[in-house]
Amino acid sequence: MKILGIETSCDETALAVLDFGGNNFEILSEQLNSQIDIHKEYGGVYPAVAKREHTKNIYPLLIAALEESQLLIEREEEVEMSADMREHISQLLERDSDNLERILDFYTKYKNPELDVIAVTYGPGLEIALWTGFNMARAISYMWNTPLVPTNHMEGHIYASLMQENKLVIPDFPFLSLLISGGHTELVLADSEHEYKKIGATLDDAVGEAYDKSARLIGIPYPGGPMISKLAEQWNETGTSIELPRPMLHSKDYNFSFSGLKTAVLQKVEKEGELTDQFKQELSYELEKAIAEVLIKKTSDAITEHGISSLVLGGGVSANNNIRSKFTQLCEQEHVELFLPNKRYTGDNAVMIALAGYRRFVNKKYDPAIDRTKGNLSLED
Ligand code: KG4
Ligand code: ZN
Repeated sequence: MKILGIETSCDETALAVLDFGGNNFEILSEQLNSQIDIHKEYGGVYPAVAKREHTKNIYPLLIAALEESQLLIEREEEVEMSADMREHISQLLERDSDNLERILDFYTKYKNPELDVIAVTYGPGLEIALWTGFNMARAISYMWNTPLVPTNHMEGHIYASLMQENKLVIPDFPFLSLLISGGHTELVLADSEHEYKKIGATLDDAVGEAYDKSARLIGIPYPGGPMISKLAEQWNETGTSIELPRPMLHSKDYNFSFSGLKTAVLQKVEKEGELTDQFKQELSYELEKAIAEVLIKKTSDAITEHGISSLVLGGGVSANNNIRSKFTQLCEQEHVELFLPNKRYTGDNAVMIALAGYRRFVNKKYDPAIDRTKGNLSLED
């Protein structure tokens, strides 16, 4: 079964084609355009620029994905599109006239690709970025008569962690997921596949934001997470005299708060004045320690309370070496099976959307009638 995944929720335009036989799969093509270098100038993701870039890149990436998957087949002779079909596609792509022309042109030149499913992110994320991928997916789904599976980006991050080589492994239920990214920090319980209950979340900044905002305060451009991690690794001592808070460590719930960390970092930075390499390394080291301690404590409490035997770590921040090693230790101690994503798939990508969409399709747990994006979509929706 061949499935096309499309992801445009933030600052990567990503498309992938996967071929499944049961839960085994082969990645036929992966296309990804990252806008990080463009957004760097703004110090964060700038929505209108994200939309412009998605709009510019999505069609060429679609063609490349189909071509690489050997699904782009020219028609023997050009055909005309019916007036009805043209009318409907024009409506779906009314906000995206450039891609409307390209899609109409596709129809006259190429046969309908032999795809079984199209999975597309419809939330959470930046609304105007989501539209680009979602409207395009709806248009081609209709034009090619291929089922559309609207997919949750955060569920995508969960499934990215469930791929082991070329196989998707579904954990025993109930399993717990800790999702840590630039926009989200949440602890989610799954009682059965696709049925989620959020047991805790950040009350303010996400973990990724704590990294990125702190990084900015010591002069590191967006997204600063990976660089903070590098600086922390350069600090070889086992301790530091810099002390940062562990927000909500002892609150009797599974919620988090990270905005106080960035404020504490700001105070240290202002007090220090001239920032030496050593100061940056020590501060990064302490920041990583503070973040990991809070994440570990809350997750470990949830594992005990809910009798969890499988833990999934997912989202962009799960690329962090310190967090990966602390969670590996925790799970060894607690005899919990840990699902860590391959580092190649920690960031936003379309393979994860195809994986989650595939499972929703085979389990018949999707709603083809969804006709709009939802920026604040939750795993509980
Ligand atoms: O999942 P993701 O790619 O995008 C969102 O959906 O938000 O996550 C991006 C976040 C950024 O905040 C980035 O700084 C952080 O993940 N990140 C890291 C590391 N790699 C990426 N944070 C800490 N350590 C890393 N190695
Ligand atoms: Zn993400």
